[in-house]
Order: sequence, then C-alpha cells, then structure tokens
Amino acid sequence: MSNPSSLHNQTQQWRALDAAHHIHPFSDTAALNKEGVRVITRADGVYLWDSEGHKILDGMSGLWCVQLGYGNKELAEAGYEALKTLPYYNHFFKTSNPYTIELAAKLASVLPDGHERVLFANSGSEANDSALKLIRYYWNLKGKPEKKIHLSRDYAYHGVTFAAASLSGLTPMHPQFDLPLPGFEKVPGPYWFGAKAAGHGDIDADEFGELIAKKMEERIVEIGPDRIASFSAEPVQGAGGLIFPPESYWPAVQKICRKYDILVHLDEVITGFGRVGEWFGAQAYKIAPDIMTMAKGLSSGYQPISAISLGSRMGEAISNSNEELVHGYTYSGHPVASAVALKNLEVMERDGLVARVNSIGPYLQRSMREALAGNPIVGEIRGKGLLCAIELVPDGKERAFFPDPGNVGTHCRNYCFNSGLIMRAIRDTMVCAPPLTITEAEVDELVAKAKDAIDRTAKDFGKA
Ligand SMILES: Cc1ncc(COP(=O)(O)O)c(C=O)c1O
Repeated sequence: MSNPSSLHNQTQQWRALDAAHHIHPFSDTAALNKEGVRVITRADGVYLWDSEGHKILDGMSGLWCVQLGYGNKELAEAGYEALKTLPYYNHFFKTSNPYTIELAAKLASVLPDGHERVLFANSGSEANDSALKLIRYYWNLKGKPEKKIHLSRDYAYHGVTFAAASLSGLTPMHPQFDLPLPGFEKVPGPYWFGAKAAGHGDIDADEFGELIAKKMEERIVEIGPDRIASFSAEPVQGAGGLIFPPESYWPAVQKICRKYDILVHLDEVITGFGRVGEWFGAQAYKIAPDIMTMAKGLSSGYQPISAISLGSRMGEAISNSNEELVHGYTYSGHPVASAVALKNLEVMERDGLVARVNSIGPYLQRSMREALAGNPIVGEIRGKGLLCAIELVPDGKERAFFPDPGNVGTHCRNYCFNSGLIMRAIRDTMVCAPPLTITEAEVDELVAKAKDAIDRTAKDFGKA
C-alpha cells in the first residue's frame, strides 16, 4: 500500500506529463494545465477512485455510457477471450467473424420493428456521420438527389465530426471550425421549461409540444420539402440539457415527417440500451425511425463501438442496390469490441436490467423530489428511466433563468465533485445518469450529496 506522500508525488508526475503532452477534449488546455487534472486510477460498481485515494460516486456513468457499472468481470473475460482468439480481422474481404455476426443478430432482436440490418462503427459521432451518408445514398438510389438538407434541432448534440457537429444545435460548437456545413438547417427543440423565458408565457406542456412541431412544419415548407432529406433527433435531448419532449411532440413530428417524406434519423446514443426504461427511446416514445444510431451503452463503454440500424425502407434499398457500398472503417465490427458488446447485451437481458430501470429510475426521481422539496433555487426536477435533471433558477416558483448561464451550475457541480459525486452541469441544469445497476442505498447517497451541493449553492447565491 503506497503512503499518502508517494501517492501525491505520483499524482504530481502524472499531472506534469499530462500537461506537457495531452490535449483534452472539450477543455481549455491552458486553464486545465494550471489547475492540474484529476487522475482516475480505478473503478468498481458505481464508484471511481482517483490517484490520491478519493472515492467518487459516478452519477453520470462516465459519459452516459457505463450501463452495467464498472468492474464487470463477464465483460472483461469476453474481451480477453476475443483478444486471445481473434484480436483483429475486418469485414471488407467477403469475411466476417462470429462475434460480430452474433452481435448483429442480437441487436436485431431488441431493435424496433423493421430494424433487421446494422452497420458498425466506433463512436456515436462516426455512427451519425455514417447515417447522414446513408441517408444521402438512399435518396440518390431513389432518384431524388435534390433531397440533401438535414434538419436537426436547437439544443441537439450529435457528436463532433464535420457532419455530426453541423447537426448540433449547441452553437458554441461551430465558430472554431467554420460550421455548420452548408445544407444543415435547425428547427426549435421542445424545451418546455424554457418556454416562458423564451416568450411563450404560461403555455401548457402539450400545447408547447404541438407549437414546436408546427414551427418545424413551417420551416419545412419555407425550405421546400422536396429538398429535405432527413430530420435527426435524440428521443430525449441529452447534452443539450436533458430535455424530455412533451407527450404531444413526437406523434406530431412523426406525422409531419411522413407527410413530407422526410427520413427520421433517431440518435439513440444516450437513450439506447435501457436508459429510458425500454431498450430504446423509439419504443419508450413510440417513434418509428427510418434509421437509428447507437453507441455508449452498446458495450457499457467498455469498448469503443457504435452501430447504425436501418429500418425496412432503407435496409431493403441499400442491401438490394446491386452495387458496392463505398463506406466502412478499419475497425467496423471489431471482433473484441463486438464480443464485449454481445456479452453486455446478454447480461442486460439475463439480469432484466431494462425492466429494473422502471423501478430504480422512479425511486431516484422520487427521492430527489423529496430531498429538494421547497429548495428556493430548484425550479423543476424532471426525469425518465435513469435520467434526472434539476433546474437551478433564481426563484424556484418561476420559470426564469439566472443571468450568466452556467455560473451557478458550475458552482454546484464543483461542490458535488469535492464531496465525491459526479454530476454534470449543463448551463444551470444539474444532470445525472447513473449506471443501470445502481442500488437504492447508492441512490440515497447520490441524492444526499446532490442535496448538500444544491443547498450550499443556494446559500452562496444568497437564496437560502
Ligand atoms: C446523443 C449523442 N449523439 C452522439 C454523441 C457522440 O458520441 P461520441 O462521443 O461517441 O462520438 C453523443 C455523445 O455524448 C451523444 O450524446
């Protein structure tokens, strides 16, 4: 067992090396290097440990991905077996491998109706990039090459490749890279909590859902439906602030897409694999997508792997095109990643984890509501499955935001982190998405720590 001072020296060394050689995603490098990174050295269940020995409850499942929690030996063994047996081979040369074949078939058994065929990639961004290429290819095959415009929504997050970032409705993602590319158009997102601040008054949630759908239709008509290829959307908007659509929203949007023959691309990178209490958000919200993308929970984050599934319309057109599909990655359907993902799905199925979300998820939301009842800066607690969001606002009774969005949220997130809880702050919305394996006792700990951080934040901003 290392003593505290040697742990500290080791941490300092790692921090110095990291600062000298490693540029972090979504980080201000100079500021981070001044502060020094936290080095995470191991993980088990819902907990992480850093190089100084601190234990941290991971309320975010990494980046919304570790469905089975950390330290799952069955996944580790599945990966090790595949590494020993077939560490690599590809699918380009009329070849395949048992792990990927079985994974594709297992996925087809849990995907929404009609989704029988999948392609593999390595990340959510790649899956979305691939999806847009396949959408373009589909319309070219159908003799409608003028359908080239991709619609997506305000607050959307779909990843970071040129195409995926162009889909994003989080505008700070664009200026550094001269994005979005031409051909990407935005429609409003169904953020009901923000409706009053956006000038819609005290509109009812369902009325708001219909209004947002109507605004989408107006934009479609303005652009010209014959030019629009697809509508990309997350069933629940994740990184944009955990925005759950009003009940009225998806049925209305789906009707509009059918009316104008616009393909529905559902990005299930967060909502897939039990997160919202069904295998997919498509099932939870009764959406019939033409194409779906998934990653994260597919392997519980243990291996980088993503997939694109095709509904019958696209699946048949593309598999019967009688020409080469000029697309694919060196690591599409990597055998080790496939073996781990396959085991992940088998464990989820065997242990009934998707059904479990429908009891532990409501327990989390109920506990959070009880703990935070009457807190002066809590404007709303919303959730579905194992997703939960808490809106921090100047007056809990009003749907109005703090000036300087992000300031209060970051303050609260820092309190969480320092007390051993990872929650994310999106603007001033505190968000959590713990592993699907979290126990009631661990939920109690998460909620107690979140409450403490929010109480302290309220005090610091003169609201308690
Ligand atoms: C909905 C959604 N789509 C796509 C992505 C991008 O996935 P990746 O980071 O694996 O490229 C993310 C990542 O958070 C996401 O939340």
